[in-house]
Amino acid sequence: MNWWQDMVCYEVYPRAFADSDGDGVGDLPGVTARLAHIRELGADAVWITPFYPSPLADGGYDIADHTGVAEDLGTPEDVDRLTARAHELGLKLIVDLVPNHTSDRHPWFQEALAAGPGSAEREMYLFRDGRGASGELPPNDWESAFGGPAWSRTGDGEWYCHLHAPEQPDLNWRNPKVQDAFTEVLRHWLDRGVDGFRVDVAHALFKAEGLPDAGPGQHRDPLRNHLMPYYDQEELHPLYRRWRVLLDTHPAPPGAVPPEDRVMVAESAVFDPERLARYIRPDEMHQAFNFAFLEAPWDAPELRRVIDGSFAVPGSAVTWLLSSHDAVRPVTRYGSPARARAAALLMLALPGSAYLYQGEELGLPQAQVPESRILDPLWERSGRTERGRDGARVPLPWSGEAAPYGFTTAPPDETWLPQPDDWAPLTVAAQEQDPDSTLRLYRAALRLRRAHPAPDPAAPPSWLSAPGAPHLALRRGDLTCVVNLDSRPLPLDTLGLTGRPVLSSGEPVTDLLPPDTAVWLTEGDPDGAHR
Ligand code: NOJ
Repeated sequence: MNWWQDMVCYEVYPRAFADSDGDGVGDLPGVTARLAHIRELGADAVWITPFYPSPLADGGYDIADHTGVAEDLGTPEDVDRLTARAHELGLKLIVDLVPNHTSDRHPWFQEALAAGPGSAEREMYLFRDGRGASGELPPNDWESAFGGPAWSRTGDGEWYCHLHAPEQPDLNWRNPKVQDAFTEVLRHWLDRGVDGFRVDVAHALFKAEGLPDAGPGQHRDPLRNHLMPYYDQEELHPLYRRWRVLLDTHPAPPGAVPPEDRVMVAESAVFDPERLARYIRPDEMHQAFNFAFLEAPWDAPELRRVIDGSFAVPGSAVTWLLSSHDAVRPVTRYGSPARARAAALLMLALPGSAYLYQGEELGLPQAQVPESRILDPLWERSGRTERGRDGARVPLPWSGEAAPYGFTTAPPDETWLPQPDDWAPLTVAAQEQDPDSTLRLYRAALRLRRAHPAPDPAAPPSWLSAPGAPHLALRRGDLTCVVNLDSRPLPLDTLGLTGRPVLSSGEPVTDLLPPDTAVWLTEGDPDGAHR
């Protein structure tokens, strides 16, 4: 078994994690200084979202230099210190690779604009003539994931493709120069000691030959994503096989995991399990995010269907996540802290690996960011109808009674995004003191999860509940997890379970499991994580 098959990986969004220099923006030394929090939580790895130079049109996913470090976040030496400290604490480090697009400020794009139509420089991207009598219409009907057309026109009349914001031109992956350049990017970060990569928009790098129209309803039905001419193309797979060879063979510097232990996880918004499974064949990526689980409603039969579907492909490496910097925080999405806590115990009992997102362990709700402070390009691209993802990206509350809650020494109105006024009870410091806090629940769950490993992280759990039941009961080795998604209390003695409760997402459980509550039971647990 590989370490990552049942790892808990903690996602850090660096500008909102911890600020070390008082400018109001979280930074790399801030992350390094607080890595102990992640270790204390019990995670095995850290995934840090882009810290590369970026004009920040899309929170750092518009990269102007894939091997550089953003000035407001630190220096290359700060990355080295972060890596070294993570390794010292026994944490693996995963960095983001963003190969689908660059920033429009990237030298390649600037050179392409300057060189003009027909030039080799333009071949780095997807430039095309427009349709219509004078080329005034976009080359095809593709829509940007952020709203509006996926094409913008340049001063000389050509259009360029961008599946996200206009400031994120898509690269031409059929150009060997693009492929070679990214091989160097991978080598660069491996040489600096990272243990793996999270690959952004891993389903979109190649577009269908001829760039055909996509037809109506493009981003509205995720189950059809893989049918879009800009997603899920065959050529992705030989590319990922080549990357896998590189990861498996490129020498590792001291401190990093050996090549065979590296991990590459696809952010692949392909929802058809058979199609998604193709990204994680044994010689491709190690893992793919399981967005179907994150998107499932609070409904027992539906969650069970998604969980079973996630194991549908034998030998696959299964992942779980309830939150990320792109998703509405679970407390808000499920409608209550109780449900979010119960969902966490469900996720952490499942075989496979779990991804946590900073602040999830504090039970943070989605914050209301005032319109004047919204940064997410979704806001403007949607004609100010969608507020976007900033509510999940406000700085973490560490301590104290008022904003900025120990995040920075800057005044509260100068933080990366403004923090709510009522987060004092949610700070790390406050929750450490409270045995019933969400932080203490996560710590206890991660400790128990480690003490009770799933016998085979790639095999489904054994269900102890019926498929249509309004509750879920499952076995993870010698640990049993029961979640009550019904509106009535569930008498546990009707389930014929053995073992005693060792962890509850709500009040300590005896014989009745309240609604929206999860409990873990074990046969005698010496470790005593009981709450
Ligand atoms: C997925 C990232 O998680 C998201 O934040 C970003 O906007 C898009 N990819 C585009 O890079």
